[in-house]
Amino acid sequence: MIKIGLLGLGTVGSGVYKIINDNRESIEQKVGTELKIEKILVSDTNKKRSVEINKELLTDQAENILENPEIDLVVELIGGEEPAYSYVKKAIDNNKSVITANKLIIAKHGSEILKAANQNNVQISFEGSVAGGIPIIRPLKESLVASNINNIYGILNGTTNYILTKMTEEKKEFKEVLKEAQELGYAESDPTSDISGLDAAYKIAILSSITFETYVNINSVYSEGIEDITLTDIKVADELGYVIKLLAIAKKQNEGIDIRVHPAFISKKHPLALVNGVYNAIYLNGEIVGDIMSYGKGAGQMPTGSAVVADIIQTAKDIHYNRPNIYSNESTLKHMVIDIDEIKNLFYLRVLVNDKPGVMSEVTEILGNNQVSLASVLQKHRLSPVVPLDLVTHPVREENLNNSLKELKTLNNVKSIESVIRVIEDF
Ligand code: HSE
Repeated sequence: MIKIGLLGLGTVGSGVYKIINDNRESIEQKVGTELKIEKILVSDTNKKRSVEINKELLTDQAENILENPEIDLVVELIGGEEPAYSYVKKAIDNNKSVITANKLIIAKHGSEILKAANQNNVQISFEGSVAGGIPIIRPLKESLVASNINNIYGILNGTTNYILTKMTEEKKEFKEVLKEAQELGYAESDPTSDISGLDAAYKIAILSSITFETYVNINSVYSEGIEDITLTDIKVADELGYVIKLLAIAKKQNEGIDIRVHPAFISKKHPLALVNGVYNAIYLNGEIVGDIMSYGKGAGQMPTGSAVVADIIQTAKDIHYNRPNIYSNESTLKHMVIDIDEIKNLFYLRVLVNDKPGVMSEVTEILGNNQVSLASVLQKHRLSPVVPLDLVTHPVREENLNNSLKELKTLNNVKSIESVIRVIEDF
């Protein structure tokens, strides 16, 4: 028998409890022995729960799980950095294997956690930490290990994908859709981490660390959110054959790792352009395997619960059959993260200028002086006395582009730079 201690009985915790109880027979058959949820840590043992539960299982003292010699496996579903990180460390130090869906502690402290798991010869698994129900961590570690994956492009945040989809389909501005999403419970009351790109940054840092067998410090991941995307941007993108998505990108280059999160114009024909609403997807290019895409629900009680229970089954099986720790290898390589200034991208720029002769040449001169070459120029609408210029550049170093924008702002004939959005075409 394998005994489990559950830390947290919120949305995902209740889902895990329910999945195990509703599928006990088939799960135990897969594991090869009985599974018993021995104790569950909650903050209030008297609170009314969405799942029917024997109160004897509940405790508000973490030691009853972390120091309990009977418990083989600890499942951390509290979320946030502390006390989750300390509990995970404690469990590992006490020779318990750990499963978590906590992207924050894996992205920030993954290196220390893996090291501790190796030293104590226990396992740490975290399939639920990235893209909820989509299997991606274990496939990257196992099924794709011979594929030389060099590029990862992900839609890793459901909240922002839902908002961008609604803006596109219903022609509404960001703020209006965000408010509706909050009322419907699709967006958190404090959506900062989702909207700003940080949530996706944690996830791409984890995927990148696994795929490129390196440690990516979350502070070195450039991230830009969707707060400034307007309906006009979405309309222009549509006219040019693109949709706007919040992309999480990680690419292995000769100089290091190009890793970032930002909104991007992507071709309407790309498979990721079809990923709408709260869905997530991960698109990979492997030198050997070619292109692969995984699609599914990136959050929620049952999708994330299913990823956690899959980890429980695998880990319980390994404990039962006394298999060595083969999943927790710590990355030893240290790839440098390439500074965003050095990355080359195509850009869409929307510049509001005075509608006067010679203004276009003032703008193109500054762009040219900074090695910004234009692929297309569109001047369709007239808002006399000003006119919007919709420009798309050829690939240009971010630093050059930013220098040209600084100079453009000093021109009297440039009223404002309304939008600067990267265009991703080479995938
Ligand atoms: N808040 C995330 C999202 C899910 O909107 O996708 C949890 O990582």
